[in-house]
Amino acid sequence: MRVLVTGGAGFIGSHTADALLKEGHSVRIIDNLSKPVHLKGKPTYLSGDIEFMEGDVRNTDDVRKALKGVDAVYHLAAYQDYLTDFSKFFDVNSRGTALLYEIIVEDALPVKKVIIASSQAVMGEGCYTCPRDGKVYPGIRGLEQLSKGAWEIKCPVCGNRIMYASSDETVTNPRNQYAMSKYTQELIGLNLGRRYGIPTVCMRYSIVQGPRQSFYNAYSGACRIFSLNLHFDKAPAIYEDGNQIRDYVNIEDVVRANLLVLREDRADFEVFNVGGGKSVTVLEFFEAAGRVFEKDIAPRITGEFRFGDTRHIFSDITKLRKLGWDPRNNVEKSVADYKTWLESADNLEDILEYAEKRMKERNVVRMSAQGAMDR
Ligand SMILES: NC(=O)c1ccc[n+]([C@@H]2O[C@H](COP(=O)([O-])OP(=O)(O)OC[C@H]3O[C@@H](n4cnc5c(N)ncnc54)[C@H](O)[C@@H]3O)[C@@H](O)[C@H]2O)c1
Repeated sequence: MRVLVTGGAGFIGSHTADALLKEGHSVRIIDNLSKPVHLKGKPTYLSGDIEFMEGDVRNTDDVRKALKGVDAVYHLAAYQDYLTDFSKFFDVNSRGTALLYEIIVEDALPVKKVIIASSQAVMGEGCYTCPRDGKVYPGIRGLEQLSKGAWEIKCPVCGNRIMYASSDETVTNPRNQYAMSKYTQELIGLNLGRRYGIPTVCMRYSIVQGPRQSFYNAYSGACRIFSLNLHFDKAPAIYEDGNQIRDYVNIEDVVRANLLVLREDRADFEVFNVGGGKSVTVLEFFEAAGRVFEKDIAPRITGEFRFGDTRHIFSDITKLRKLGWDPRNNVEKSVADYKTWLESADNLEDILEYAEKRMKERNVVRMSAQGAMDR
């Protein structure tokens, strides 16, 4: 097959592209090498066997050129950040997706499948169970609550303490600019795909971890932050109290899922959670990273929080398991592979402070009253 990977210079896209090549497909990438993800330009990890096109998924001529002669598309290009340039999320993610379908339909292109990168973020705070009210789907915590350092979610009906539960694909509760834009990508792909006979699959990735995650993108999360800190013998700040439940999935597992849904007709017009299958707290993740780096460094729990973060989220992966997929790798493997990659990188000195400083400048990270008192 001839396969186009949008955003293929990035983390998930480049690994997917490599796996496609290995399976004998020919691969074209369109990527605008956006900053800060590619602060240092075109990544050297891109295989010479890939046809690389520098272009923007919002540009009609670029997308038309990229789609020429293509049998399938992985649409992974996206704007991901915590910043307040709200319109950019919809411009890149929503409009970029609509343009893809527009050109396929208007030019009557014989594209047999489009696989869209969605996100667990679409489910927001996900599903919780309340002893009184059963399944509930809370909204995000307000600034007032977070400023007091009151991290846990209360039942939106009765106000009692509730327990997180796993969330399946029926849960949609997008609450921030990124999540809303990712949900529009699902809606655009599934509805236009069905209407115009373009088999489409939406992959709701949990937090994907492994080598090639940009050092410079604040959005690329725990693995990058913890690994960089441990590498430099520093103690990272952990937001809230570190007991947030997360769901980390290894990049190799994600790539296997991506390849599975390309060949599997039963996946068409479906949404799949692609998660690690194991709930892990942020603190537990840090401890695992400490074991991999063989460093006994305590994190700093500073009372800071990131406005807009979910408290707990954990994806139910039963649906993808039914197609024969299973996550095989644990968080230690993700960190170990990231460590190897980190150790092979140049100019590490400027990396550590970059993303955190950027988030603070933009007022994404804030301090709770308790944290301020402890200072
Ligand atoms: N990494 C995760 O944990 C995760 C989780 C859930 C969903 N996702 C989704 O998976 C996809 C890939 O994520 P990733 O982690 O590989 O991110 P990444 O930032 O490493 O890769 C995204 C790529 O898209 C490119 N890009 C951005 N805007 C573009 C534009 N306008 N035109 C062309 N290219 C553009 C970037 O240059 C980058 O190479 C994204 O759609 C993301 O929303 C990722």
